[in-house]
Amino acid sequence: MARKGIILAGGAGSRLHPLTTAVSKQLLPIYDKPMIYYPLSALMLAGVREIAVITTPDDQAAFRKLLGTGARFGVDFRFIVQPRPEGLAQAYLLAEDFLAGAPSVMVLGDNLFFGQGFEAVLGRAGARDQGATVFGYEVQDPTRYGVVSFDETGLVEDIEEKPAAPKSRFAVTGLYFYDGRASRFAKELAPSPRGELEITDLNRRYLHERALHVELLERGFAWLDTGTFDSLIEAGEFVRTIEHRQGLKIGCVEEIAFRRGWIDAAALRAAAGDNPNNPYSAYLLDVADGRASAGRPTDS
Ligand code: DAU
Repeated sequence: MARKGIILAGGAGSRLHPLTTAVSKQLLPIYDKPMIYYPLSALMLAGVREIAVITTPDDQAAFRKLLGTGARFGVDFRFIVQPRPEGLAQAYLLAEDFLAGAPSVMVLGDNLFFGQGFEAVLGRAGARDQGATVFGYEVQDPTRYGVVSFDETGLVEDIEEKPAAPKSRFAVTGLYFYDGRASRFAKELAPSPRGELEITDLNRRYLHERALHVELLERGFAWLDTGTFDSLIEAGEFVRTIEHRQGLKIGCVEEIAFRRGWIDAAALRAAAGDNPNNPYSAYLLDVADGRASAGRPTDS
């Protein structure tokens, strides 16, 4: 069964008020595109084409306006509402019918991944049809995240949510691969003391079966946070710096669809629209005409 995707893009966004009083956090700009393009691009790089987008009731219309059916990106979207932000693992209850027992990959709508070898790591995780895979990333302050620790042989020892005394510096990123049992396991979870169905508890369920795999994202890889005013602008500056230097875009979902053969050059030109003064459109035309290469001529 093909792996299906979930983008969790709800939440109150209260840490970013007043920016998010009238606009969903995941629609805020990260330099030249809405935030959700970046996690969407991660799912597309994982080869996933059937994607549920989970939003608040109020914000769904805006996401539909931005994303449409998915045909422009060679994917298929299903929009699902989360009535209240009752935890990341609740996504698996809300998406149970959509998943219909398929293996899945969930990404948080505010997580940005960028780096060499990402597709290979995604490919390894996607190829595992049993168990779960999460991604560890060394951070300065692990207390803000889920934290995974290892025993002396390198096996996963524990995974804890925002521990006061972390056993390692490896944060668990907001990208989760699960086998077809995730919705069933999510139903067995009880809310945590803060009243949420915790994704970390779902991961612990897999750990208890010795079925939790951890891929480490290496030094030099960028996993960026967008949870504070500063991290939001830092993420935008990061994207701008790399895009200016290379003339290639990060998280350009139309480009990914084209390079994967999910849409053709005519569709890419149509996505660019009749808008020569818009640099994003100009880039899409460059890609359609082979002017933005992204690889040796023999690659791709
Ligand atoms: O970013 C990675 C971290 O994400 C992990 O290391 C943690 O283990 C995981 O719990 C989560 O921690 P956060 O503190 O970042 O979770 P937060 O409550 O901020 O939610 C993350 C995003 O998901 C946020 O953009 C809002 C959205 N969300 C959140 C909840 C609780 C929903 O769409 N629905 C929800 O019910």
